[in-house]
Amino acid sequence: MTANELIYAGKAKKLFTTDTPDVLWVEYLDQATALNGLKKDTVIGKGQLNNQITSRVFDYLTAKGIKHHFIKQESATEQTIQRLSIIPLEVVVRNVVAGSFAKRFGLEEGAKLAQPIVEFYYKKDELDDPFINDAHVLFLDVATETEIAELKAQALEINQVLIELFNQLGIQLVDFKLEFGRNQAGEIVLGDEISPDTCRLWDKETGDHLDKDVYRREIGGIVSVYEEVLRRLEQLEGEK
Ligand code: C5P
Repeated sequence: MTANELIYAGKAKKLFTTDTPDVLWVEYLDQATALNGLKKDTVIGKGQLNNQITSRVFDYLTAKGIKHHFIKQESATEQTIQRLSIIPLEVVVRNVVAGSFAKRFGLEEGAKLAQPIVEFYYKKDELDDPFINDAHVLFLDVATETEIAELKAQALEINQVLIELFNQLGIQLVDFKLEFGRNQAGEIVLGDEISPDTCRLWDKETGDHLDKDVYRREIGGIVSVYEEVLRRLEQLEGEK
């Protein structure tokens, strides 16, 4: 299988058609962005790190019976996925106070939440992806009431599996963002990527940030911390 026609060029990925109508080709780029694209840099090696990390995380989800769009890692920077019609929502799950949640409620980062919190953001670059509630999701007609319940249930189930995975890597899963889409059968399926670009990952021993906050906050280099996450995933794989 090979990439055919470019159908989408995003901030960190390009999407291509393939000879199979239902299968798309993804290329991960050496591009880092933050602040909705206002901050942008070329980071050599980032594309292959995110592709390899995401591929391993999705393989882990497969082993745990979670449905998703990932098919196969095709090369260092490329993978194939099942075509989905993406729901324009960012589904964020939080286990620990951090980021925009800390800011919104005037809290210090670091307190563990008594139970995970699921949030929705409307994916619209020109509006800076606003925080929205269930009624807004219905108003915007992006998901039905049943689908909202399904999105929350899947997000929480994925959270449990990811907490367990990262725990084995000595990493606390603070929060993360998921995107879902509908497949040909109309089922809601997990899409996009799961990587240090989309998750907050704190080293359990040192509290070090092993995620994109090192870039957003300019407190370190992306490549070395993403390499550390990949190294721990590979080590876990080797132990099995
Ligand atoms: O910034 P905020 O605290 O709302 O981010 C919550 C989580 O969602 C973080 O793990 C962040 O990396 C992720 N996120 C993302 N893409 C966005 C916004 C947030 O991956 N556009």
